Amino acid sequence: EFQEKREYLRVNRLAAKYYNHCLLHTREGSKAMEYIKERGLTAETVEKFYLGYAPPSWDGLIKFAHFEGVKIDTLEKIGLIIPRKDNKGYYDRFRNRLMFPIEDVTKNIIGFGGRALDESMPKYLNTPETPLFSKGDNLYALSMIKKDPALDTIVVEGYMDCITLHQYGFNQSVASLGTALTKNQARLLKKYTDGVILSYDADEAGKAATMRGIDILAQEGLRVKVLNMPNGKDPDEVIKTYGPQHFQKLLTDSMDFISYKLFLAKKDINIQTHDGKLKFIKRAVDILTGVDNEPELELYAKKLASELGISVQAIKKEVQRRKL
Ligand code: UTP
Ligand code: MN
Ligand code: MN
Ligand code: MN
Ligand code: MN
Repeated sequence: EFQEKREYLRVNRLAAKYYNHCLLHTREGSKAMEYIKERGLTAETVEKFYLGYAPPSWDGLIKFAHFEGVKIDTLEKIGLIIPRKDNKGYYDRFRNRLMFPIEDVTKNIIGFGGRALDESMPKYLNTPETPLFSKGDNLYALSMIKKDPALDTIVVEGYMDCITLHQYGFNQSVASLGTALTKNQARLLKKYTDGVILSYDADEAGKAATMRGIDILAQEGLRVKVLNMPNGKDPDEVIKTYGPQHFQKLLTDSMDFISYKLFLAKKDINIQTHDGKLKFIKRAVDILTGVDNEPELELYAKKLASELGISVQAIKKEVQRRKL
């Protein structure tokens, strides 16, 4: 089995090399390269992330692998090809897509993400579950960040977000590959850092994923902050639209997750009214039951108390009551 995995890894690297070659040295690839340039990525970034291009052909990779003496079974096992419906032969899984090799922490290539360059769905196609790749057990670019508890790690949704951040010097960035952060990903992160800044897309999916992600990360003992993304945007778009300095400012201004939850809880409420106050207090107390640390609780309670014109004691008492 160990030998088998070694062969799988070898073939994934070979495939990455093929895709990279197609991007850099083929006619079809030059269109993909134009797309990359349009999105503002540099040649250096292409090299650093070993980006590639899967040509539109149904058997480009199959032919290349055959030429290299790779067994067809191997290609199927690692998800690079798909059996035809009639069971007569195979076709390439990734076609006409920009390719993102995904490394594990030891820099082995365990899978790929592929972005469509036309209107094909899905927009991003990933390697399916294979003996090498399990989506919820890895983070994109984790192999590139520093193992340093003092540095906060920026967690984003997308490949493009992560790559753009690295290009602009935000080197401590990883992507959770889709929106649902898992417990295993949180554990993995904890080996690299003590603090995380969640920077998901400011759309409905991203906001929901932020709320779930916060709790999963906090449960693994990570310090969690949340970046307040401009509405509808993702990190890549923020940098392209407002520049890297603005993203730096958003990072600096990012809120601890309790403040973030309180901020959201207040958003749709008019706390000038009696009913509004009561509604907000109820939500706030719920959120504060998640604070174990007594002095920290006191700080939040004080802030809320002055905001609402009630006593700190009233808030703390209600939090204790709710905890029981
Ligand atoms: P988004 O839809 O936000 O895409 O998905 P994006 O990263 O901003 O893509 P661009 O900027 O249009 O290129 C965020 C992440 O969710 C996963 C991918 O990992 C993607 O980077 N995803 C998204 C999929 O796996 N499949 C999809 O069809 C869409
Ligand atoms: Mn070449
Ligand atoms: Mn999104
Ligand atoms: Mn996005
Ligand atoms: Mn995007």
